[in-house]
Amino acid sequence: MSQNSNSEKPWGGRFKTPTNAFVERFTASVKFDQRLAAHDIKGSIAHAEMLAHVGIISRDDSAEIVAGLKAIESDIADDKFEWSIALEDVHMNIEHALVERIGDVGKKLHTARSRNDQVATDIRLFLREQIDSIVAGLETLMTRLIDLAEREAATLMPGYTHLQTAQPISFGHHMLAWFEMLMRDRDRFIGCRERVNVMPLGAGALAGTTFPIDRSKCALLLGFAAIAENSIDAVSDRDFAIEFAAHASMLMMHFSRMSEEVVLWSSQQFSFVELSDEFCTGSSMMPQKKNPDVPELVRGKSGRVFGHFISLITLMKSQPLAYNKDNQEDKEPLFDTVDTLLDCIRAFADLISSLTINAEAMRKAVEKGFVTATDLADYLVRLGLPFRDAHGVVGNAVRRALDRNCDLCDLTLAEYQEFYPAMTDDVYKILDIDQSLDARTHFGAASPRQVLEACERARQRFSPSISRTT
Ligand code: ARG
Repeated sequence: MSQNSNSEKPWGGRFKTPTNAFVERFTASVKFDQRLAAHDIKGSIAHAEMLAHVGIISRDDSAEIVAGLKAIESDIADDKFEWSIALEDVHMNIEHALVERIGDVGKKLHTARSRNDQVATDIRLFLREQIDSIVAGLETLMTRLIDLAEREAATLMPGYTHLQTAQPISFGHHMLAWFEMLMRDRDRFIGCRERVNVMPLGAGALAGTTFPIDRSKCALLLGFAAIAENSIDAVSDRDFAIEFAAHASMLMMHFSRMSEEVVLWSSQQFSFVELSDEFCTGSSMMPQKKNPDVPELVRGKSGRVFGHFISLITLMKSQPLAYNKDNQEDKEPLFDTVDTLLDCIRAFADLISSLTINAEAMRKAVEKGFVTATDLADYLVRLGLPFRDAHGVVGNAVRRALDRNCDLCDLTLAEYQEFYPAMTDDVYKILDIDQSLDARTHFGAASPRQVLEACERARQRFSPSISRTT
């Protein structure tokens, strides 16, 4: 990056002495906002075409500007563009390069526009595109979850509350619980996209412009579904970024819970799943270790995304309307949120497809935890006992099994009849874990048949993803 004097700066005219070198560095955003270059150029091309369309500049001038911008775009893509800190941000760097390239005609581009509506437009174009990638990534991950749920619909697994063995579920049912979490995230991003897809351009610095611009022409060219209603709000609003970061935080919270379970399940104590070697690293000291780094990192990265949400909402707190330079601080948290999300979505999608399921270990764990105690209580209810009393009877039976260090199905019928005389041989059927799972037959429950039906519904709920190219 080269240093320049004030004469190069588009706003240099009003100033007598050059900017202090520290201030130049402190106020510049080009180091990070150059990432918006392609969107900035897209917005500028639409603006130039609109200016010609309504006759504010000539068609020839507009064509020259557009050609110049396209040449700059390919220079940037080829890494041949020299960014300058003295030119502060992506917008002034590109505008300056345009004038250097095509001469005075380039100076007409900024007619009827301010960097305030320009930057708001750029971020929205950027975020709209990123949300599409995020939603597409989530849909891939969700499809893999359904595939896995379908495959493991009948794979018995202990379900937990308080991390204590509670009732039998199937591994597939658990995968569908993850699916539901992500489904809500995906829907939130799609909703957020609607509020992102509103065009600020035309708001100028804050009050609009005296030129007869055609905002709907620009909106059409840029694929915006709506035009910002109020010029002051258009340049000052960053709600969409805050909202995006809030949804991102929720997704990362979900990922952290999923990660935590993968880490637990892949430990020696559980051994419910095995991560492929590709997804793990070893220890430099302990030769036996295979560490689940990927889910651990995903879990850890939730922290930075929550932080970005707090940064953004605090950034906007107490800001008077309309645009303030504070807003320049919106980009780094936003960019990092997007990057972190895309990485974590990919990490999970890959992890899911490489997971080995250890059905044997899960069945053993189910057998240990008195998981059919509730089924036994339900059976007593069917024999005529009120549920509270049935609960007490089963409590006594569990106590007895614990004392004898055996399972509920190892107690004799005579022992059961001691607790409640009307019990019959049927009790052993009730205590069978497979039937306990199969018996949960209603909508949303854990039985394999229900899981398969839920998989079917899940596929339909987000297929065919409508094209969101604009
Ligand atoms: N670099 C600025 C930003 O990121 C662009 C808008 C600056 N506008 C201004 N009047 N200083 O927000």
